[in-house]
Amino acid sequence: MEEKEKQKQRAAEAAARHLQDDMTIGLGTGSTAYYLILEAGRMAKAGMRLKAVTTSKATEELARSHHISVILPEETDCVDLAIDGVDEIDREFRAVKGGGGALLREKIVASKAKEVIWIMDESKLVERLGAFPLAVEILPFGYAWTANAILDLGCAAKIRSQEGQQFHTDNGNQILDVTIPKELDYGRVAETIKGIPGVLETGYFDRACSRIIIGTSQGTEERVNPARKGSLLRIGGIINEE
Ligand code: 5RP
Repeated sequence: MEEKEKQKQRAAEAAARHLQDDMTIGLGTGSTAYYLILEAGRMAKAGMRLKAVTTSKATEELARSHHISVILPEETDCVDLAIDGVDEIDREFRAVKGGGGALLREKIVASKAKEVIWIMDESKLVERLGAFPLAVEILPFGYAWTANAILDLGCAAKIRSQEGQQFHTDNGNQILDVTIPKELDYGRVAETIKGIPGVLETGYFDRACSRIIIGTSQGTEERVNPARKGSLLRIGGIINEE
């Protein structure tokens, strides 16, 4: 296995150690989340009771095929812990997600979770956001107007395609991959994009995680986000304060 894959797997396995019996979990999407689902599946098979809200059809299928009970968001009012991957993250825990096109569901699940852990190989840590395009989920209706409004902000934007076909999210929408020029304030531009009619969500996550776990060549490194420290983690009806 190539080094980057090993790092993803190490991070995912370390994150799986945060899973506890009777938890309702949020399962992310992508190649790092894949290893988490395998590990959570092993734990479920060994008897751990886990219920999962999934962030994409691919994750739902994978989870089901690995003994994890999948529920709809409507079936719970609480997600104890969401674990997901990330495309880029800076030292302030500002991140970009959506490389796999699941950003809208990922944001909904993260916003509902008591604790959010992002797992990654070390290439995802960056000094500043911007090398990876910002995924923006837009409604197909009026997409050219929406794209033009983003271009008017001074950004570059490209409609995402896959194997020569226009890419559609699990929600039936399109993705614009947006490049925000270095001289602009990234967070502010992302928030402005969010306000454009036709934009459903962006892949900019402003300090939304409680901790990150980075797979390294030696093992793993965990960093706690001080802005979300002290969040309540409810496990099986008991409230534990970190
Ligand atoms: C999907 C995502 C993924 O979490 C992100 O793209 C990271 O993926 P990977 O773990 O494959 O690098 O946001 O929408």
